[in-house]
Amino acid sequence: MDWHRWHQGYQEGGKLQERLRIVQDQLRLALAAVPPGPVQIISVCAGQGHDVVGMVSGSERRGDVRACLVELDGRNVAEAQRRIDDADLQGFEVRQADAGITDTYDGAAPADIVLLCGEFGSLTDDDVESTVATLPQLCKERGQVIWTAHRAAPGLFEHASAAFERHGFVPVWKDPNDPFGVARDQLVARPREFRTGQRMFSFADEQTLIALGRTI
Ligand SMILES: C[S@@+](CC[C@H](N)C(=O)[O-])C[C@H]1O[C@@H](n2cnc3c(N)ncnc32)[C@H](O)[C@@H]1O
Repeated sequence: MDWHRWHQGYQEGGKLQERLRIVQDQLRLALAAVPPGPVQIISVCAGQGHDVVGMVSGSERRGDVRACLVELDGRNVAEAQRRIDDADLQGFEVRQADAGITDTYDGAAPADIVLLCGEFGSLTDDDVESTVATLPQLCKERGQVIWTAHRAAPGLFEHASAAFERHGFVPVWKDPNDPFGVARDQLVARPREFRTGQRMFSFADEQTLIALGRTI
């Protein structure tokens, strides 16, 4: 998959525009729910940062937000950094690193808000499970996670939802009519101590994803 090209869907009239609107709405609501003061955000597999950079740059709380965007593709990292610089978001950093290991979040975790958008569709069910199981280490108390799991991928949204429930989260928002499968969950169990050296996921190869019906 060419992950730089994938972002063309964000262009005017592109298929990611409506998804972006929903994700940003949920991020706005999540941010409003964090008490006054500093806010830490982590974006896992952040791509070009359209969601978090676009939303926070127009927020009255932009000065409160520290954000860590993790992305592997150097072209997307450069584009995310350009957006951050253009928006003059001082508290933002982009880490070009593997988002699948906890070491990458050292110094950024735990967060008030974690974004996991456009990731589950590239993972096996086991890796969705281990990612969600690790989130209580990446979240502060009452931390919120905004995630997506396209509803056209058989069973994916249901599997991810069940994993969130198993690992101490409650659903805050989801819309059965939203084809992109955007959701917001909140940690109600106690956060777990952050530990480095743990692998949460690796993107699966194309044959595996075809077999799972994930290539949509
Ligand atoms: C479907 S895109 C989603 C991007 C962004 N979250 C969004 O919704 O616009 C998935 C992104 O994950 C990145 N990626 C894939 N494997 C990664 C890894 N192990 N660590 C960090 N980023 C990764 C890709 O380069 C790509 O930009």
